[in-house]
Amino acid sequence: MDELKIFSGNANRELAHRVCDFLKISPGSIEVSEFNDGETMVRIDENVRGADVFVFQPTFPPARNLIELLVMLDAARRASARRVTAVVPYFGYARQDRKDQPRVPITAKLVANLMTVAGADRVLTMDLHSAQIQGFFDIPFDHLFAAPVLIDYLKTKKFTNPVVVSPDIGSIKMARAFSKRLEAGLALIDKRRPRPDVSEVVNVIGEVAGSDVIIIDDLISTGGTIVTAVEVLKKNGARRVLVGCTHAVFAGDAVKRLDAAPIEEVFVTDTVPHAPDKLTSKINILSVAELLGEAIKRIHEEQSLSSLFV
Ligand code: R5P
Repeated sequence: MDELKIFSGNANRELAHRVCDFLKISPGSIEVSEFNDGETMVRIDENVRGADVFVFQPTFPPARNLIELLVMLDAARRASARRVTAVVPYFGYARQDRKDQPRVPITAKLVANLMTVAGADRVLTMDLHSAQIQGFFDIPFDHLFAAPVLIDYLKTKKFTNPVVVSPDIGSIKMARAFSKRLEAGLALIDKRRPRPDVSEVVNVIGEVAGSDVIIIDDLISTGGTIVTAVEVLKKNGARRVLVGCTHAVFAGDAVKRLDAAPIEEVFVTDTVPHAPDKLTSKINILSVAELLGEAIKRIHEEQSLSSLFV
């Protein structure tokens, strides 16, 4: 079988290395740096001819992360890899995914086009902002969920009358899966966005009074969605509030906002890296390295991934 090789850009080398440790391989040798003017410079420093190459790079801001991914894909293809898989644990630029107002782009489709043209033969990602982004690609696409990792963690805790809450309509499917697995209730917050990055809560749909509430979302950016959700849940009589999320982008003062809110704990995955000294004791990081590593192994061995989705 062709050799499995993983090459990481600079976005999240820690996670790439955890994946390599799980697979008991060394990360591929690659230089991903910048020219003096700031342009991305890539050079793969080992032979990849005929290899099964996985290019590892989440694409949270800055845009340099996306450019590194594209340039690495191009390098791998031109170096005659047999197959190139883009491993994008956090698929950024996903929020503008439809033309819902005049004169807006569909950035998620643009990024899909860029990745394909750059040389991706297939894509492996996790908890897309909206699942239909898969349809923007005409190449094989594996969409993992962080749920098994987050649910295993939640199962170590004791709750009184637990209710899983989706902080907006977009995360309802994710929240429903959690409520089913945890045998918990389900509630939904009717969120409006008067303008980008500002969220207003209109209503809570469902009963949360006297309950331990677990808010589940795919992404925390400014933290506004979560903080406004927590306020209204507390007003409606929620007891404890915990927050679980896959992608912790933590823009601006999100960490401070979360810390100041009446939240017992925020547990997130390591798809986006954070220096421990930039976090607070309220934030717990759970690793998705084994899940990604297992998926990479199965893709390489042409085995089914479906048992990873439950
Ligand atoms: C929205 O649809 C997403 O699921 C998140 O709730 C949202 O992007 C989080 O953004 P912020 O933390 O800035 O409110």
